[in-house]
Amino acid sequence: MLVKFISLNLINFKSHRDLTVNFGERTEITGDNTKGKSTILDAIPWTVYGTDALNSKLDPTPVTYEAEETMVSLLLDVDGKQVLLGRELKKGKTKYIINEVPSKAGEFNEIVDQLFDKELFFSLFNPNYFFTLHWEKQRAMLLNYVTAPVNKEVLKHMPDGQALELQNLLKKHCLSDIEKIHKESKTKLDKQHIAAQSRTKTLKEQLEDLKPSVALDSLKVELAQLVKERNEIENVTDSAGDNNGRINRLQSKINSLLSEREQMKVDFQKLKAEEIQDTCRVCKQPLKDESLEAAEADKQKRIQEFKARYDQIVIQRKDLETELAGLDYIDVSEQLEKVREIQEKINPIEREISNHKQFERLQEQVNQAIADEKETLDSLNFSIFILDSIKAFKAKEAELQGEKVQALFDSLSIKLFETLKNGEIKPTFEIMMDGKEYKKLSLSEGIRAGLELREVLSKQSEIIAPVFVDNAESITKFKEPSGQLILSRVVAGQELKIEGVER
Ligand SMILES: Nc1ncnc2c1ncn2[C@@H]1O[C@H](COP(=O)(O)OP(=O)(O)OP(=O)(O)O)[C@@H](O)[C@H]1O
Ligand SMILES: [Mg+2]
Repeated sequence: MLVKFISLNLINFKSHRDLTVNFGERTEITGDNTKGKSTILDAIPWTVYGTDALNSKLDPTPVTYEAEETMVSLLLDVDGKQVLLGRELKKGKTKYIINEVPSKAGEFNEIVDQLFDKELFFSLFNPNYFFTLHWEKQRAMLLNYVTAPVNKEVLKHMPDGQALELQNLLKKHCLSDIEKIHKESKTKLDKQHIAAQSRTKTLKEQLEDLKPSVALDSLKVELAQLVKERNEIENVTDSAGDNNGRINRLQSKINSLLSEREQMKVDFQKLKAEEIQDTCRVCKQPLKDESLEAAEADKQKRIQEFKARYDQIVIQRKDLETELAGLDYIDVSEQLEKVREIQEKINPIEREISNHKQFERLQEQVNQAIADEKETLDSLNFSIFILDSIKAFKAKEAELQGEKVQALFDSLSIKLFETLKNGEIKPTFEIMMDGKEYKKLSLSEGIRAGLELREVLSKQSEIIAPVFVDNAESITKFKEPSGQLILSRVVAGQELKIEGVER
C-alpha cells in the first residue's frame, strides 16, 4: 500500500490562521522558533484521528486570537485513490467531512480504519511514536509482521532425542497442550511416586519382620520325620482301637444275651404253668376231645420252640465268650501321649511353614511394589524430559525468531526474550543502539533509531507512508526513508517557509 499526502489546509488551527501545505516527495518546513512547524506535525494526525502526533488529546482552538471555528482538511492518495478528510471544531463540537460530504463520526472513523491501522499510521508517520508505546505493544507490532519459525525449523536445531520425542507428540497436540498435559501429569506422578516409594518401604519393613529363621527345606524334612513318627504310632493306636472296640462290643452283646436268658427262665415257668382251657375262648362252648388234644399239642410245640430258642442264645453267648477270651485289651495311653507330644512339635513347624508362604506372598508384593515404583518414576522422568524439551524448544524458537527479527535491523539490536533463573523463556522487548537503551539516546540518535524502526515496519507491513521528522536540524545525517519525507528545521531569523520538492 502506498499512502501519500497531497495537501493540508489549516484554518484557525493553533497559531495558524490560514495555512496550506502542498507536499512533495520531500517537503521542507523551515522557520525560526515558534513559527508553527511542530503545529503542522500535529495537524495531520488531528485531522485523521483528532489527536496530536503522539496520539494524545489535543484541543487546537486558538488561544491568542478570536476564531469562530477550527477547520482542517487533508488530501490523501491511497494507492492512487484520493480521499479528502476534513475535521471542524466549533464551540467544542466536532464535524467530520469526507470528500466534502459531511459525515457522522462513526462513518468517518470507519473510513479511516479501512484506510490504515492506527498504530501503524502513527509509527510510520512519527519516528518518535513507537517508543512511547508499552513494550508489549511494541513487541506485538514488530512480531505482527515477522512470522515465528515453524516447528519443523525449530526441531531441526534441537538435540535428536528431544526433537524426536516432541515431533511425535506434535502429531497429536500443539506445544502448549503438550506442556499442559505433562505439567499436569508431572504433578500427579510426583505424588504417585512418593506414595509408591512409601508403599515399597512399608512392605519391605513388613517383609523384614516376617523373615523366616529356618530354611523351608529343613522345616519340611523335620516335619516329614515327625509326621512319619506320628503316623506309625497312630497305626498302632488305630488297630488297638479296633481290638478294644471289639472287646467292648462283645462284652455288651454277652451282657444282653445274659439278661435275655434270665428273662426266658421266668417266661418258661409261665409257659409251663399255662392251663389248657376246656371251653372255646370265643364261643365259650366246651371243647371237644380232639380240640383239647390239639391245644395240648400246641402248648408242647411252643415249649419245644422256646427251649430251642433258649439253647440257641446260650450257644451264641458261649461263642461270643470264647471269642472274648481270645482277645486282650490293649492299653494305648502311652502312645496317645506320645502322639500328643509329637503334634506339639509339629504345630510350630507348620506355623513356620505357613509363615514361609506368607513371606513368599509378601515378597511378591514387594517385587510388584518395586516394579510399580520404577514404572511411575519412568513416567515421571518422561514428563520431566518432555517439559525440559519444551523449554529447549521455546528457547530455540525464541533464538531463531530473535535472529530473524535482528536480521531486519542495521544498527538497532532487538531483544525479544529473556531467560529466567529457572530456565523459562519469557517475552520481553528491548531496543538498543550501540549498546544503549532508547531512553539514553541523544536527540539525533533517537530520531535515527525511530527512522530505522519505522523503516522495518514499513518494509514488513508493505505499507509505504509519509514520515515527519521534526527538529531535523539536530540531525546531520540519516538514511533516506521510504515514503514521503517531511522535514522541519529551525532556521534563525526566518519566517515559516514550506517547500515541496520532487526527489
Ligand atoms: N492553541 C494555540 N493557539 C495559539 N497559539 C498556540 C496554541 N498552541 C500553541 N501556540 C503557539 O504556537 C506557536 C507555534 O508553535 P510550534 O510548536 O508550532 O512552533 P515551532 O515552529 O515548532 O517552534 P520550535 O522551533 O520552538 O519548535 C508557539 O508560539 C506556541 O506557543
Ligand atoms: Mg517545534
